[in-house]
Amino acid sequence: MLVSHAEDNAGTRRDFLYYATAGAGVVTAGAAAWPLINQMNPSADVEALSTIFVDIGDVEPGSQLTVNFLGKPVFIRRRTAEEIEDARSVSLDELSIDRESRNPNRPGTDASDQNRTLDEDGEWLVMIGVCTHLGCVPLGDGAGDFNAWFCPCHGSHYDTSGRIRRGPAPENLHIPVVQFVDETTIQLG
Ligand code: FES
Repeated sequence: MLVSHAEDNAGTRRDFLYYATAGAGVVTAGAAAWPLINQMNPSADVEALSTIFVDIGDVEPGSQLTVNFLGKPVFIRRRTAEEIEDARSVSLDELSIDRESRNPNRPGTDASDQNRTLDEDGEWLVMIGVCTHLGCVPLGDGAGDFNAWFCPCHGSHYDTSGRIRRGPAPENLHIPVVQFVDETTIQLG
């Protein structure tokens, strides 16, 4: 379950927008961005949010942390062994709607689960939480026909890899530019 941010929250702390219930991670804007902001005043707000670091050390398997990045929710899920198995047992032939990984960290690759996860073992899945149909935020935590994410707006079902499997959405949930900084910190952007 997520506690969503207040819509009117604004200013330099706008990156502290979403928190998970158990073991909330810590999100910080890149300190190195500030000198640049001072030199490029007109785009200060954008620069402040262009890179964020997220502490994922307290995210338990089977739970999800949602952070706001560049104005969009980003789902950071630590998958269970069962979720990983589910995602990796799906063949490309079964992905009838979209077979692209939609992962800028691995451009041009197919939608195999291995091409979408942050780590080789597939424990971490980081995705932009915006339905590729008309932009609603899908429900998570085992929702929909594939026990993963479901967008109730028009009925799009995503699997445990965030791939569209049923409904009107044309593409898999997109993955942001993301990397590990250390064992418990990821960098978005
Ligand atoms: S916006 Fe998600 S199904 Fe239409």
